[in-house]
Amino acid sequence: MKTKGLIDIAELTADELDDLMTVAEDIIANPADYAEACHGKKIATLFYEPSTRTRLSFESAMLELGGSVLGFSSASSASVSKGESVADTARTVECFADVIAMRHPKEGAPLVAQMHVNIPVINAGDGGHNHPTQTLADLLTIKRELGRLDNLVIGCCGDLKFGRTVHSLVTAMSRYPGVRFIFISPDELRVPEHVRTEVLDRNGIPYEETTSLEEAMSKLDVLYMTRVQKERFFNEADYLRLKDSYILTPDKLKTAKPEMRVLHPLPRVNEISVDVDEDPRAAYFRQVKNGKFMRMALILKVLGISVKGGNVK
Ligand code: NCD
Repeated sequence: MKTKGLIDIAELTADELDDLMTVAEDIIANPADYAEACHGKKIATLFYEPSTRTRLSFESAMLELGGSVLGFSSASSASVSKGESVADTARTVECFADVIAMRHPKEGAPLVAQMHVNIPVINAGDGGHNHPTQTLADLLTIKRELGRLDNLVIGCCGDLKFGRTVHSLVTAMSRYPGVRFIFISPDELRVPEHVRTEVLDRNGIPYEETTSLEEAMSKLDVLYMTRVQKERFFNEADYLRLKDSYILTPDKLKTAKPEMRVLHPLPRVNEISVDVDEDPRAAYFRQVKNGKFMRMALILKVLGISVKGGNVK
């Protein structure tokens, strides 16, 4: 492996996660101090799958650091449509940019890119596998909303099988003491075996699985809702059968703790009713903002740029 980006959230220690959050909070407090930090630097956003937040968040993060952006937002507009490999595309882009953020439908594609270039590659979501920078947004949101990342009961609800954001979140939260999970999903969309054995069991993290959101609600400090990942289903009939499994409404929130927070990586389809948006516990749009600040902190880290001396290792 060459110059290190971020492929899997497991690459970051709890201290490194804390450092990134410290930098992000300093950026929030003192944005002007960072306005030229990446002057002359370029990020390439290579998105082979649709995205609104993640791509624009990376791009606005780099712009707010004084850098510039280039890239593509669909596979059909890039040479992959002519048959180019990820490795060749990455080697080409390395000639133009200082850091790559890549989203790809195939698990492992950003890792392949990282193996072929000497600039950092950041995984912006690879198939049903991982989404480490969404997790950075999630962590900062939980910290800012609840004041801590330890001793929390986290409910993950929806498509826990294909939902890559859940896989990364579970991995990261397993680093904090006193964290417990309640996984709420239909049987067909349970959290994958490899996450249960390699992350939860290996680290001795307690968890329960249930099909009932109502039963879990009152126990939760965080409710992490997810979209049923239509694009990863093998047949339409299964998707149609499972897509409306959970719909969060103000009524269902009645038994939730007053300080519980609802997170969602977005986009939502119908799994959170828009009537929930005005509830102070609905944190998903604040989560989007936090994502930009964490991506700013991450870009500084992978480029080895320290603004305040020592914060970004
Ligand atoms: C998520 C993703 O792409 O995995 N979106 C995002 O990046 N915020 C979640 C999803 O698409 O459902």
